Amino acid sequence: MRKVNAITLHILLGLSIISVILSFIIFKEFPINFNFHLLLFIVFAIITESVVIFTPNKGGVTLTFGIVLSVAILFGPSEGLLCAIASILFSVYKMDGEVKYFFNISWYKTLGNLNAYIISSGLSSLLFIYLNQGLEFKQGSIIPMFISGILYILMDVMLITTFMIVSSEADPILLFRENFKGVIPNFFGLSTVSIIIVMTYQKTGIEMVLILFFPYMLIRYSFKLVYDMQANYLSTIKALSSALEEKDPYTKGHSERVEKYSIMIANEIGHSKVDIQQLQYAAIFHDIGKIGVEDSILHKPGGLTEEEYEAIKQHPQKSVNILDGISFLKMATTFIQSHHEGYDGTGYPNGLKGKEIPLEARIISVADIYDALTTDRPYRKAMTNRQAIDIIKDESGKKLDPFVVDKFLVLYNKGRFKI
Ligand SMILES: [Fe+2]
Repeated sequence: MRKVNAITLHILLGLSIISVILSFIIFKEFPINFNFHLLLFIVFAIITESVVIFTPNKGGVTLTFGIVLSVAILFGPSEGLLCAIASILFSVYKMDGEVKYFFNISWYKTLGNLNAYIISSGLSSLLFIYLNQGLEFKQGSIIPMFISGILYILMDVMLITTFMIVSSEADPILLFRENFKGVIPNFFGLSTVSIIIVMTYQKTGIEMVLILFFPYMLIRYSFKLVYDMQANYLSTIKALSSALEEKDPYTKGHSERVEKYSIMIANEIGHSKVDIQQLQYAAIFHDIGKIGVEDSILHKPGGLTEEEYEAIKQHPQKSVNILDGISFLKMATTFIQSHHEGYDGTGYPNGLKGKEIPLEARIISVADIYDALTTDRPYRKAMTNRQAIDIIKDESGKKLDPFVVDKFLVLYNKGRFKI
């Protein structure tokens, strides 16, 4: 397990104190009035939280926000808080491909998430009561609800991002931007649905809300269809990519390692400069076009004739042709096209130079060459780490971008490239 650093512990301690004080104030000022309707809403929140939709970029989407917001408005801040806490206990996460539950993720993540929930829902409920001058949901309540909803999202994203920053090496600005970008459509959609739930409950009672729950879950289903479609696309092409590597024992696992190394270098450079998601896709699929190059050329033990080399040089364009038309890989294909361009302009297919080559392609070049040098090839044995580093240093400013090589060497000196 990752060791928790002192900053994380201090932040956790601070946030936990705020959470306890805030919960105490809210529960004392607005005593919980527990009833059957509230219980039904809490059950809804638990269901929506436990049927999370995992997105291809490893995040998760739930519709719980809309229910918690409705509860806070209809019943009060203590009930909203209770609903938020009850639902988070049933949260489902995906970490390193493994599905995990609230109680078996690391204790500091559990505590961090719980604090984020309590602080954001507690403060936004109080703001709503203040702006709305009371709890009663009336005609003019939509604006206070909207403003307090924004506070909820801002606080939640800020707290989760703060936590991610101290427990990882990711770039703070990009993390905040990405997290924020991810929740905005969800926020607008679910706030609107929440207004409908609140009005329906006040006008017609719990029966209509029970009926509304079905279309509510239908929204989840639509979300799921979109993400499933993206995931299916990805796994189809991944299957194609591993079929290619399976044919050749020398390149087995190559794209996976290039993906891993590229992300490590991108993290060192800083996410605000690199499109990490598209870089990841590009790294996975960079050599997929080799499927269109004859095996006799790919596996040739000796040197290549000019004609054979020309055939090899077609593979970046062939990769682009295979991925063409998949809209969410659009950016990645431009990186793939340039992964054999040389920093000094001596590469292929277009002889691009320096910054004309996308940074992501320059990152893949370094990762690609490092992996090629440190694994067995038909024409030579794998080199040692030291020999590979010497060649990469030598190619800095020639084939490879010196800026990317510097970042690679920083990682190497930190012992991150151990093979
Ligand atoms: Fe390649």
